[in-house]
Amino acid sequence: MTTTSTQVGLRALADERLHIGTAVTGGGQPGSAGLLADDERYRQVLAREFSSLTAENQMKWQWLRPSPEAFDFTAADAIVDAAQAHGQQVRGHTLLWHNQNPDWLAAGHYDAQELRTILRTHIHTVVGRYAGRIGHWDVINEVFDDNAQLRTEQNPWLAALGPQIIADVFTWAHEADPSALLFGNDYAVERIGAKSDAWYGLLQDLLARGVPVHGFGVQGHLDLAHGYPEDLEQNLRRFADLGLHTAITELDIRGLVDSPAGQAGLDEAQLATQAQWYARLVRTALAVPGCGSVTVWGVLDEQSWVPGWFPGTGGALLMHGDYEPKPAYHAVAEALRAGP
Ligand code: XIL
Repeated sequence: MTTTSTQVGLRALADERLHIGTAVTGGGQPGSAGLLADDERYRQVLAREFSSLTAENQMKWQWLRPSPEAFDFTAADAIVDAAQAHGQQVRGHTLLWHNQNPDWLAAGHYDAQELRTILRTHIHTVVGRYAGRIGHWDVINEVFDDNAQLRTEQNPWLAALGPQIIADVFTWAHEADPSALLFGNDYAVERIGAKSDAWYGLLQDLLARGVPVHGFGVQGHLDLAHGYPEDLEQNLRRFADLGLHTAITELDIRGLVDSPAGQAGLDEAQLATQAQWYARLVRTALAVPGCGSVTVWGVLDEQSWVPGWFPGTGGALLMHGDYEPKPAYHAVAEALRAGP
């Protein structure tokens, strides 16, 4: 089993039922295509294992917009080209977010009308450039805070233009590519609770007003210490019942790395639980109508954003070291083999 899974690759096991995706590592500087340009082994693993690619950073404003006048598509193009060469779908990430915006945006002291024009031009240009090649866009990302309130101060777009801009950004994205599926995306919305309820209300309202919105993305940044989100399936199903697509968009499952060291820094018990969680998530995605993809947020534990952002934790992905599959990888493969 150990060798067969990695020879076949997860994407082949998933077949037509589900897209298995990864974030293309982009921890480096804006403008650089990073591992995708430099590492043949990495390219091979991407092509063999995954049928969907998301830009980890390369399509964020910080990367695409070096100055108010300019766009730099070098790294983003490399991802879309690689996907096309290997028959992979692309998830575009992201158009309106409170993080990773370029410094010139705040420093420019733009008035509301100017910001509206900047945002509309950005969306038309970026979505238009990849029309027909990027099939799914995370149009709005993390618009709710941890208290389930719209980030009306923290998000520069919502602060300047008000919550009504949300409908406009979906409309602009739809104008630029009528075939793309347009998503809202967030973390800590795996469970049914205040935050996922807020999203449910927002998306329901947008749909009722005829705004072109098509999906809800659940990031899935999970922590072994916080327990498995038992009602994930029920939660996804209520969005499906609204007529929306769903997706797990940024899956990683972190554990404590200062516990007795095992593979990838996690001990045996954590590796086993992690494998169960990964498999369960894949089974849920297979079971929920309209859940089109499970994307893991990177390939190797060593390249994951987790240790940098959640100190003391790590080991969150499916492979480590020299692309060695972890128990979680084999569990995902098994879930895909066994699933409906
Ligand atoms: C993260 C990247 O992985 C890091 O490299 C970067 O420094 C910060 O952003 N939610 C999102 C993603 O929507 O864009 C974030 O990605 C992780 C949390």
